[in-house]
Amino acid sequence: MKRYFIAGNWKMYKTIGEAVSLAADLREKLAGCGEKLMIAPPFTALKAVGDVLAGSNILLGAQNMGPEELGAHTGEVSVLMLKDVGVSVVILGHSERRHTYGENDQLINRKVRLALQHGLEVILCIGETLEEREAGRLEEVIRTQLEGGLAGVGIEQLSRVTLAYEPVWAIGTGRNATPEDADAVHAFCRRVIAQLYSQEAAASITIQYGGSVKPENAAALMAKPNIDGALVGGASLKAESFVPIARFR
Ligand code: 13P
Repeated sequence: MKRYFIAGNWKMYKTIGEAVSLAADLREKLAGCGEKLMIAPPFTALKAVGDVLAGSNILLGAQNMGPEELGAHTGEVSVLMLKDVGVSVVILGHSERRHTYGENDQLINRKVRLALQHGLEVILCIGETLEEREAGRLEEVIRTQLEGGLAGVGIEQLSRVTLAYEPVWAIGTGRNATPEDADAVHAFCRRVIAQLYSQEAAASITIQYGGSVKPENAAALMAKPNIDGALVGGASLKAESFVPIARFR
């Protein structure tokens, strides 16, 4: 049976106390859930949340990572530091990193390769803006992000890469892509992966959908053949909305 990957991206929310309390609640309420689960608190709460999650079925994720192992890089957090606090998955190329902080595919690719080299799993986020979609550039944008983000990533490393399709116009807007629209883009991603790697890699790669996922739309999205999970923002900030998403079936 298909095992879905349901992940929560807490973005710049939650003090340590708030994060610990939500993580403890999720640990209890998601015990026994058979899906692959991850939560990504802000950096400041990683250690405390990692302690709460130890021995549970929820993985500890980070929301970003610096492109170097160490050095004079004021304000960055390195892969070694993430591993030191027990992080096993890192979200890279989130649209807020791309559009608010100017990250390009080249920078994202350096991070992707470094994270994989160090044994982490990567969630590589891709997605078009409304302007790009309306200009008919959807496939070109997605292809460029996939080719750029995955440059130099070997097929043997690809099993540790999850793709997250997050159309920018659906993030935090309450307006999710329809399951049909999302499924079609996921299918396109598989075609690109087949060209870059192989048919087997395309069939087996996990592709999450993200953008206004809620308890009310999770099951319909997950029912689509090319959707293998969800990357949840706003609705991951409360157990009452994240738990029913993770337990959508
Ligand atoms: P929302 O679920 O709040 O739309 O955010 C999606 C997202 O950006 C997850 O990474």
